[in-house]
Amino acid sequence: MNTNIFFGTVVRLTAEDPGVLAKAFAKWDRDTGYKRLLDDAPPIMWSVEKTKEWIEKQLEEQQANGFLYGIRTLEGDELIGFVDLWVNWLHADGWIGIGLGERDYWGNGYGTDAMQVMLRYAFTELNLHRVTLSVFEYNTRAQRSYAKAGFKLEGRVRGDLHRQGQRWDVIVMGILREEWLEHAQAEKTTN
Ligand SMILES: CC(C)(COP(=O)(O)OP(=O)(O)OC[C@H]1O[C@@H](n2cnc3c(N)ncnc32)[C@H](O)[C@@H]1OP(=O)(O)O)[C@@H](O)C(=O)NCCC(=O)NCCS
Repeated sequence: MNTNIFFGTVVRLTAEDPGVLAKAFAKWDRDTGYKRLLDDAPPIMWSVEKTKEWIEKQLEEQQANGFLYGIRTLEGDELIGFVDLWVNWLHADGWIGIGLGERDYWGNGYGTDAMQVMLRYAFTELNLHRVTLSVFEYNTRAQRSYAKAGFKLEGRVRGDLHRQGQRWDVIVMGILREEWLEHAQAEKTTN
């Protein structure tokens, strides 16, 4: 039995003070390349104070339906990103979003580890039936990371995104509880 469900292999999930998260978000949001991977809205620059107000409002609105956590490295305790899960309790479905604002950590397993921690939380603690996400067609790194975490391709919303003069599909991926159990079991036996 895992003794701390918020710990992965290289990261842990954290409840950050809104001021700390706001400072990080305001910095990461100035990286337009990152924002284009994360969000369909045009990149907008907000002050730390305005970002803090937004985070506080999010946390207030989320109450028991949303789980916004920071992602910190186990080694060095650096805040490198966030993960956010919104739950529709009626259908036991969670929508998840994730972002590592610190580029140096991309492609090194940190995001997938954080996603796996959140999936374990979703299925073993929240008893969800499924977890869903959407990802842009051009974000191949994220698609690969999600596939490694056990997500399956469920569909494409064709040409849903209009960016830099081109239309892109939005890809929907999902993982069911039984698939996660199978995936987690397979990971355990190979590690
Ligand atoms: C998406 C994200 C959370 C994934 O976390 P990560 O720690 O980078 O992912 P991992 O290193 O575990 O896995 C990435 C995989 O993609 C591969 N990869 C890296 N760059 C790639 C690229 N440009 N195209 C395709 N695959 C790529 C890696 O080789 C790795 O696969 P492998 O383990 O089979 O070699 C993180 O990269 C991130 O936050 N990116 C910026 C914001 C973002 O895209 N958020 C998601 C919005 S839907």
